[in-house]
Order: sequence, then C-alpha cells, then structure tokens
Amino acid sequence: MQQNLITKCNQISFEDLGKTISVRGFVTNVRKLGSLIFVNIRDLTGTLQVIFKDDDKELHSRAKMLNNQDVVMISGFLQSRSSANKDQMNGTMELVPKLLNIFSSAKTPPMTIEDNTTALEKLRLKYRYLDLRRPTMQKNLKIRHKTIMCIRNYLNDLNFLEIETPILNRSTPEGARDFMVPSRVYENKSFALPQSPQLFKQLLMISGMEQYFQIARCFRDEDMRKDRQPEFTQLDIELAFATPEEIMTLTENLLHKIFKEILNVEIKTDFLKMSYNEAIDNYGSDKPDLRYSLLIEEFTNEFKNTDINFIKKSFDNNEVIKGIFVEQDLSKKQLKLLENEAKKNRSKGLIWIQINSNKVIDSSIIKILSDEEKERLIKRFAGKTGFLLITIHESFKACVAMGAVRVKVAEMFELAPKNVFKFLWVVDFPLFEENSENQLTSAHHPFTAPKEQDIDLLSEEPLKVRSTGYDVIINGFEIGGGSIRITDKKIQHKIFELLRFSDEEIKENFGFFIEAFSYGVPPHGGIAWGIDRLIMIMTNSESIRDVIAFPKNSHGRDLMMESPN
Ligand code: AMO
Repeated sequence: MQQNLITKCNQISFEDLGKTISVRGFVTNVRKLGSLIFVNIRDLTGTLQVIFKDDDKELHSRAKMLNNQDVVMISGFLQSRSSANKDQMNGTMELVPKLLNIFSSAKTPPMTIEDNTTALEKLRLKYRYLDLRRPTMQKNLKIRHKTIMCIRNYLNDLNFLEIETPILNRSTPEGARDFMVPSRVYENKSFALPQSPQLFKQLLMISGMEQYFQIARCFRDEDMRKDRQPEFTQLDIELAFATPEEIMTLTENLLHKIFKEILNVEIKTDFLKMSYNEAIDNYGSDKPDLRYSLLIEEFTNEFKNTDINFIKKSFDNNEVIKGIFVEQDLSKKQLKLLENEAKKNRSKGLIWIQINSNKVIDSSIIKILSDEEKERLIKRFAGKTGFLLITIHESFKACVAMGAVRVKVAEMFELAPKNVFKFLWVVDFPLFEENSENQLTSAHHPFTAPKEQDIDLLSEEPLKVRSTGYDVIINGFEIGGGSIRITDKKIQHKIFELLRFSDEEIKENFGFFIEAFSYGVPPHGGIAWGIDRLIMIMTNSESIRDVIAFPKNSHGRDLMMESPN
C-alpha cells in the first residue's frame, strides 16, 4: 500500500487517483446491487462514493450491514468512476475500500437528513443535531463563521478593541421587556440580561477605549417574528470622536468586504440615504424593500368632490386616501388576503378598483362611485390595467397599512428577485414616538442625540425633533441601527424628563451613568448590526432560525431541550 492519507471528501483531487486515502464521516446512502454495494460517505466538506465488490467477502458482508448515518472510516484507493456524477461533489471519483472501521451504528433517524427534507420545522428543531447534518444548514453556519471572522479581522486591522461586557446586568432601556435572573445571594433582587451592551459601550468611550467592538449576545423578551429571537447576536460598535458619516462609511466598507469575500458579490458602497418621512410616504415602512417598486401614492384628489358618506366623514377628520397600483390580476381570494393584511395593520379596510384594457372599471364600491370619480380614476390609471388598492386613514397609518399590503403583493407575485441585495440608510428618524396612550417613547433609545438644529423644539414640539439615528436596511430588513449619543448632561436630563422619569427615577436607574459624564466624555457614536439577520439575507434563508445553531421556535420555546421548563 502507498502512503495512507486521512483526508476530507472534498479535499481530494485528480492527483490523488490511484493513491490510498481514508475518509471519515456519516454514511448517507447505501445501494445494494447484487455483488456491488455503493455507499456514500459525507463529511463537512462533501460526499464521496465507495464501491464494495464481493472479491473481499468479509468486507462485503460488513458493508451489507451499513445503515444511513452510521459513522465510519473507510480506507482504500481512489479510482475514476465509470459513470461520473457531475452534480455531486467529487462525483468523478470513487473509493475502492480495503478497510472499513465502524465507529458507531445509527438507528433510523426520525427525519430525512437531506437538503430537500420534508420534515416540518417542529421535528427539525426537536432533532436539531440531525437537522444540522444537512448540507444547507452546515453551509449557513460556515457562512456565519466566515462572516464573523471577516468582521474580527477587519476591525482588528483598524485597531478596534474587542471587549466583553457583562451578561448579568441592570435593565437597559432598549424598549423590549427584560429577561430576569433571580439572585441567590441577594434575596428579592434580580439581574436583567442585556438587551444590548449600550450603556457599557458608552462607558468604554468614557474610559478612553476609543474604538470598541463586540460580537455580543443580546436578550429581549418580545413577540417573535421570522427575524426575531429572544436571544440574538449583535456586532456592537462604538467610536469616540466619530461623525455619522464616518460610522456609515465604516459599515458600508465592512459590508462590502463581507459580501465580496464570502459571497463574491460586489456591492456598491455609498448607499442611498432616505429620510424616515420619505420611507413612510413611499413605502409605508422605515425598512423599505427596494427590490421592487409598487410605490404608495395619494388618491385623495380623485375623491375630492365625493358624495360617498364614509369617505366624506373621513375627509372631515383630516384623513387621506393612500394606495398602490398592482398590474397583476387579483382573484377574490387574493383580494381578501390583502384586505386582511391591511386590517391587521390597523386599517379600516381595503377598497379595490380594477380597470381592464377596454377602460372598463369595476370596484368593491362600484355601486357608489360617481361618474366623475370613475373618470378621474381612469385618468389616474393613465392607460395601465390592473388593480388600484386604496385605504382611508390618517396619513401615517394609511401609509403603514398600504406598506404591509405592498409587501404581501410582492410575496404573492414573487416580485423581489433572489440574490439581489438592495442596501440603504434610513435617516432623520423622529427622536420620539407616541405610544397608544399618547405618551412619548424613544424611537431608538434614550441616549440617542437629537439633531442639533432641532434641539430648540425639545420643550414645545418634541415630536418634531429629529434624531441623529441611522438604520441600515437590506431587502426590507433592518440589519443595523445606531446614532450619535447625547454627551450633554442637560440634554440627557431633558430627554429623561420628557420620557416621564422623575428626578428620583433618573438617579435610581441611570445615576452611575450620568455621573460618569462628569469626568470628561469624548463625543461618541456607534451602531449595532443584527448578525443573525445579516446571515439570513446572505444565505437566502426564510428565517433567522435557519442561521442559528440552536434557536427557539416561533413561540420562543427550545423544542429539543424543552425549555423553558
Ligand atoms: P437596535 O435595538 O436597533 O439597536 O438593535 C440593533 C440590531 O439588532 C438586531 N435585532 C434583533 N435581531 C434578532 N432578534 C431580535 N429580537 C432583535 N432585536 C434587534 C436588528 C437591529 O437593527 N444599542 C442599540 C444600537 C446602537 O445604538 O448602537 C441597539 O441595540 O438587526
């Protein structure tokens, strides 16, 4: 025998033909064809076919006993395959075995361990260690690893320091609920798990660390979505003396490097910057998906002389009509689905108006449309055929409802091309939002600095104050967000006051933080990226659960460990 080389399935090359090699991994396919037994062996790099012939009776009879997912080492010599499988990695070569070492036998797994598995997510999560044997899942985790390595190398080269911050914490006000950990030592007291390292990274700037980053685990007790997990990973960054432009450029350059190095996709830096108001007006969302158009437009004018009672009433309440044109044909069922989507997003309803190529108009309100309105609408269609979907509400709410309908229409007709990445910044966010009780809440978090030119509005018209915040969006997902921070104690105090913290509460909750600002504080700002969301987009995954090794299910449960228990 020549030199026996332990290798990976995908690390062999034509130069190895005729050599004796050993591969280790899982048996993924056993086909018994009379005197020949074909076995596929899979490791993390790929698959290799092994062909057992009956000239070695003992080896042949042991191979007969092999089952899918047995863990083996097989040694033998590499030969060319008579019928090459070009689709499969290493499909032009096969191993003629001399030695079969069975490390462990497997019972029949509860799911097919293939990329196109029919297993439901419930089963996949219960047997996550088996699900992770599927090549797609392994590819996702490899991309995740490479991305994190790329980030670390890039920031290290720029002299950033990676610094860990505590997990057992005091509550930080990021807007979600905290997960609490009762203290054994201090009765009736608890730690809160960090929603983000926000306070610590700012304190690190006060410590003179200048350029910090961390791959940080964060915990938020909030409603689940496909892009939300109760624990998730951020790339957290903070810089002293930085301007928003510098932080945006750093983000763009790092994203450029990641997409180039890992996906071989050349993205354009200098991302589009869109104001929050523009994003809401045109897309009904502060994280617009720019892979398709379907812009939201106003149709109030088409109904300005209306006799339709409910529309008239709405206009009296300063409501407006917002809508989108859909070129595609919509069935009654689809229209119902879209109406439900609008209603889920707090719209009172969705009206449809259809026009065909003969300029014949039909509508869910056809019986009450006046001739003038029909004429105006036909004119507005401007020769296009299809459906106009409209809703009537206060402007912001109408846009948001239509924004949700827009996304649903895009899903219905697969309008968003895969493997296209549309990046943008959303800027000029309001500093505050109003909650359902008309109280002010922070749109980002209470340490976000207001725009200097809007500071005078803080007392009288706080809802008009814009923040220095910026969100980076890819394909309709908020991938990251950050801001320049407040470093003026008086302004910070004012913000807390507007958020209805009493002096006592400010002292109790943030006393240590505010005190730190008395000892010299460099101006600073930063950003945090959602690593899981970024990898979800890079891998074209349906949900962030597909890029996290051991995620919770869509109800926040770990089905494998059965936690919480
Ligand atoms: P923010 O709250 O916007 O900012 O969070 C930053 C990014 O983290 C991701 N993210 C999540 N990912 C998965 N599951 C979740 N539950 C979840 N929540 C947030 C998003 C988001 O853009 N401290 C500030 C950052 C700063 O100001 O520097 C913060 O945490 O991609």
